[in-house]
Amino acid sequence: MEKILKIGIIGCGGIANGKHMPALQKVEDVEMVAFCDIVKERAEKAAKKFGTPDAKVYEDYKELLKDESIDVVHVCTPNRSHSFITIDSLEAGKHVMCEKPMAKTYEEAKAMCEAAERTGKKLSIGYQNRQTDENLYVKKCAENGEFGEIYYGKALAIRRRAVPTWGVFLNEYEQGGGPLIDIGTHALDMTLWVMDNYEPEMVVGQTFRKLADQEEQGNAWGNWDPKEFTVEDSAFGFIKMKNGAIINLESSWALNIADPQEACYMICGEKGGADTINDQARINYIKNQRQCIEIPNLDAGGAAFFEGQKSGSPAEMEASSWIHAIRTDTDPVVLPRQALVVTRILEAIYESAKTGKPVYFD
Ligand SMILES: NC(=O)c1ccc[n+]([C@@H]2O[C@H](COP(=O)([O-])OP(=O)(O)OC[C@H]3O[C@@H](n4cnc5c(N)ncnc54)[C@H](O)[C@@H]3O)[C@@H](O)[C@H]2O)c1
Repeated sequence: MEKILKIGIIGCGGIANGKHMPALQKVEDVEMVAFCDIVKERAEKAAKKFGTPDAKVYEDYKELLKDESIDVVHVCTPNRSHSFITIDSLEAGKHVMCEKPMAKTYEEAKAMCEAAERTGKKLSIGYQNRQTDENLYVKKCAENGEFGEIYYGKALAIRRRAVPTWGVFLNEYEQGGGPLIDIGTHALDMTLWVMDNYEPEMVVGQTFRKLADQEEQGNAWGNWDPKEFTVEDSAFGFIKMKNGAIINLESSWALNIADPQEACYMICGEKGGADTINDQARINYIKNQRQCIEIPNLDAGGAAFFEGQKSGSPAEMEASSWIHAIRTDTDPVVLPRQALVVTRILEAIYESAKTGKPVYFD
């Protein structure tokens, strides 16, 4: 039997209950021993449902961090507190899984990377979509060189009317932005990962707040309050990489489109291309002078491309691969320096939208 890794959860809201805690429950030899939320009842409820019988409950995360028996912390609070809670947790000697987006700003995210490097503790970011079968398949094709050099990507996170109305998603101070930082971040992460290109040269962006004040909303999660809606409702970015590759990023919670496309991308290389639209991997190339589209059957047997992995839902794959990285002292699937580049590009899109000018990187 492995040493039991003891885990503390900070922020016991939607994503902790929907992803982290149920997924960690399925990982062998880990225990959730501490739960923190500024709304104490949420921490109590989570402790009862997912914790060990003697699990502790806290309202102040700094008190949780004093428990030296805790090895790992999962940060599941709104975006504003990702950076300082993560840094304090690393300094307290814990490995940290922090929810996406890494942070509100590039400076905050950079400080998180530096803290991980300084303390020697592991840090990863909750981009669980990398763990879907279709993404693992496309990534494998890219690694095998089947696309050749990838010179165009399209990162897609566009909803028709699915504005999150719980929590603080509409609050610019708490979240740092709207759909771009909320769901655009997933699509961009996957696109950069498959392209394996983390060197942006220039970004131009535009944000819109065109539908937030409308009364007829037709929203998937019920009506939002326009007065609370202090972020954009859609944002678009044009990203030029140092090697000349181009990425178009489209993000929206509310856009007049017929076909929403979220957490997916399209990439085009010299030898072939791929997309993951409609949760399906499609690989396209020319063979025998014909235009071929390969649609792999990913249902059979699950996908287990990482040593030590069990197949399962993306949330379960994320949790098990994260714990595996800690146990084997290997890199987690999502590296902090990769998430830092995502954060930098998103910040540049917001900046470009504000100034009306392109943003150039060194
Ligand atoms: N990976 C994904 O696909 C995904 C999906 C949804 C949300 N998220 C991310 O998860 C984070 C939380 O989102 P959510 O939907 O769970 O929101 P939520 O509002 O449901 O939950 C956040 C919880 O954190 C608590 N909290 C706030 N500040 C705290 C602090 N300083 N210390 C302790 N607890 C604190 C709140 O009381 C709340 O219970 C966000 O950063 C969001 O972007 C990720």
